[in-house]
Amino acid sequence: MDSTPAAWADADAFLADTLVGHDPALEATLEAQRDAGLPAIEVAPVAGKLLNLLARLSGARRVLEIGTLGGYSTIWLARAVGDGGRVVTVEAEAANAAIARRSIDAAGVGERVEIRIGRGADVLPTLVGGFDLVFIDADKESNTVYLDWAAKLGHPGTVVVLDNIGREGEIVRDDATDSKVIGTRDGLRMLGEDPRFDATALQTVGVKGWDGVAIALVV
Ligand code: DHB
Ligand code: MG
Repeated sequence: MDSTPAAWADADAFLADTLVGHDPALEATLEAQRDAGLPAIEVAPVAGKLLNLLARLSGARRVLEIGTLGGYSTIWLARAVGDGGRVVTVEAEAANAAIARRSIDAAGVGERVEIRIGRGADVLPTLVGGFDLVFIDADKESNTVYLDWAAKLGHPGTVVVLDNIGREGEIVRDDATDSKVIGTRDGLRMLGEDPRFDATALQTVGVKGWDGVAIALVV
């Protein structure tokens, strides 16, 4: 097989069919998001399930998500925290939050999810800490700010997941001018240097192209 984006997507679709399966609530969430004109930048199905498994593996009961979009990853996380668990999700766009709210409620996990509308830099300082898992998937320019809040609002043992660390390999380009690439690289450097974190990252290929995810432990 040639390594092409189409082949990555085909193999990823097979993995999703085989390991994730048909999921009406999540499919309706994607349809609502698309109908509302939101970009299809939610995590891939296999990555949503990875978030769900990481939350369950770590026994997370309180989850913070930065960047709700249409609520797709929120639902994966809300399913993981169980009855009595809580997901606080921060979304800058009120219109996105309204769409997410409907999908999250329709998925049957509405009572577990609190959506906080506002920019992360404004909302995060108002939150009470103690989060067991933090998923950062918002404006890449603010990744270092969000990582700092993840450490402050977490505790030793908190799992931090940072989305979109691959960016089609652009992160290694010294002449990068894209602010998203620069923000991503700054976030990765922080994960490597900041003594509050122990981290690694995995590149991914699939339905979302060539990208990746960093996974860190707050130590
Ligand atoms: C972008 C953001 C995302 O969170 C993502 O998963 C893919 C792309 C973006 O802003 O380009
Ligand atoms: Mg993302």
